[in-house]
Amino acid sequence: MHHKQLSGEVYYPSSEVIERAHIKNWDELNETAKKDYPGFWEKMANELHWFQKWDKVIDDSQKPFYKWFTNAKLNVAYNCLDVHLKTFRRNKLALIWEGENGDLRTYSYHALHREVCKFANVLKSLGVNKGDRVTIYMGRIPEIIMAMLACARIGAIHSVVYGGFSVEALSERIEDSQSKVLIVADGAYQRGKIVPLKQIADEALQRCGTVENVLVVRRTGQQINMEQGRDMWYHELVNLPIANQNCALEIMDAEDPLFILYTSGTTGKPKAILHTQAGYMVGVYTTLKFVFDIHEEDRYWCAADPGWITGHSYIVYGPLLNGATSFLYEGAPNYPYPNRWWQMIEKYGINILYTAPTAIRGLMRFGESWVLRHDLSSLRLLGTVGEPINPEAWRWYYKVVGKEKCPIMDTWWQTETGMFMITPMPSVPLKPGSGTRPFPGIEMDVVDENGNSVKPNEEGYLVIKTPWPAMLRTVYKDPERYVNQYWSRFDGWYLTGDSAKKDEDGYFWIIGRVDDVIKVSGYRLGTAEIESALVSHPAVAEAAAIGLPHEVKGNAIYAYVILRNGFEKSSQLAEELRQHVAHEVGPIAKPEHIEFVDSLPKTRSGKIMRRVLKARALGQDPGNLSTLEE
Ligand code: WT7
Repeated sequence: MHHKQLSGEVYYPSSEVIERAHIKNWDELNETAKKDYPGFWEKMANELHWFQKWDKVIDDSQKPFYKWFTNAKLNVAYNCLDVHLKTFRRNKLALIWEGENGDLRTYSYHALHREVCKFANVLKSLGVNKGDRVTIYMGRIPEIIMAMLACARIGAIHSVVYGGFSVEALSERIEDSQSKVLIVADGAYQRGKIVPLKQIADEALQRCGTVENVLVVRRTGQQINMEQGRDMWYHELVNLPIANQNCALEIMDAEDPLFILYTSGTTGKPKAILHTQAGYMVGVYTTLKFVFDIHEEDRYWCAADPGWITGHSYIVYGPLLNGATSFLYEGAPNYPYPNRWWQMIEKYGINILYTAPTAIRGLMRFGESWVLRHDLSSLRLLGTVGEPINPEAWRWYYKVVGKEKCPIMDTWWQTETGMFMITPMPSVPLKPGSGTRPFPGIEMDVVDENGNSVKPNEEGYLVIKTPWPAMLRTVYKDPERYVNQYWSRFDGWYLTGDSAKKDEDGYFWIIGRVDDVIKVSGYRLGTAEIESALVSHPAVAEAAAIGLPHEVKGNAIYAYVILRNGFEKSSQLAEELRQHVAHEVGPIAKPEHIEFVDSLPKTRSGKIMRRVLKARALGQDPGNLSTLEE
């Protein structure tokens, strides 16, 4: 196919790649989607199963509270599993799982359906009903996927808390969601050690009060505390006659909630992003199909964690909706050696690998010999997400891992967007570090303070101008925050919180967050969470956290602390505070460095000026200081 000449470092797809791709001509698809946007999504929706079809594809009568596929009736878990049982996919592998310790399990669509139904019956026996919230706190084991789908089957709203979070983070999310049941694993294997998930959960439950039952999945078999009447072993309940393999499903309305997922915002507590049934389903189904170009024979591996949106959309829902075979790995990429990932790609014949820049940089550090000793010729497509990928890591990924034949899908999106928003497709020419252009039909822009498009290659606010099916519907129980946070800065446009540039070819380049969100190893953390964990320590009077560039993690957390009277600065205390943050929020939030200070730069209204701290740490000019308090 003929591509127009693009500027800069460009990688054109081979004819082989284009030949295979579902979408051979991106421009044509984009034109079609632009001409009839609802029609485009309606066509995709028609590829899925509905108990009743919609009245309207997009209802924008109550902006920004958009509705999609109004009055349609469906069940997302039915589309993930049941529909495949009537086809050859019944015997196809849905899931291949490898534990960090070498355990191996596989599930056909038939088997996964059976396990999900049993799981759903167990939840029902604990009194979980449609609309109830269920918190899930587990490692990367098949049961986390079953638990999520079991909720979807019976219309319960899952709230997955990433297994790397700790006591306070878990407790606050359980409390906010008012969950009735907590599903937890006894522990998780990580880098040869056990993360004591149940023990962390016990401590979290002392701080919140809504959970009636804890359902414990055995993974490690280590000794744990089981509270009588509250805690139940999953393997015991699932063997009772109540947990048979038939489970009636709930017929859901298009706009019923599917799940909530907490994410860090600008200020205060993490917010619960609400995703609903129909639009989310159609959005993740379509984007995965076109971008990772799923074919029947593929083995697809999204190396994220099910506890983040990447896992929700592209480990759990997207692949199953597409009838794909997914691979899930429990542990660390470099355990026991830095070739673990390459070994598994070879062993299982993985065709598509989707990961994050931080993982690529981490593995790159060990040198290419670890990669080169494995046959990675099964790989066809690669992907990246979570933060901007530096061109050096991109080229390494492309050359050393992909042997210059696998296009890299750099997908920009967010917990809030639910699905890929800026992304290439295999047939699109690539530029290292750019996610190329918005998904067909979706209009995005880079604008200045006043909402005017900036000139090519100038920096501005990244905004989304068209609604999209998998968009968040609200902040759970806080519609005001939804409106203020996302829709007020530029009336009618969605504010992403990122700054970006657009080049002369219309390609987008993400620069980073413009708010108080820090991306550490691709994980999204709020300065507020880290600061409040620090202040909850008796020695700390005030704290400020910032992100500073880090070679592997992208950003690392630096914290500035003012001690209370009577406490002395010392390196032991600094270490104790770091551990305290790890215990409260999670190891991912542990500051790289803590500096004790006597004062913090603030505005006259008392707001900490983090950009001043950042500029100082980087030896840069702090810019306009007119609002700085004396
Ligand atoms: C923020 C959203 C992990 C799933 C998606 C992240 C950053 C995400 C990219 C990318 C540059 C990216 C943005 C965004 N981000 N993908 N391909 N290139 N930046 O979801 O945890 O809600 O974070 O991640 O800053 O706003 P999330």
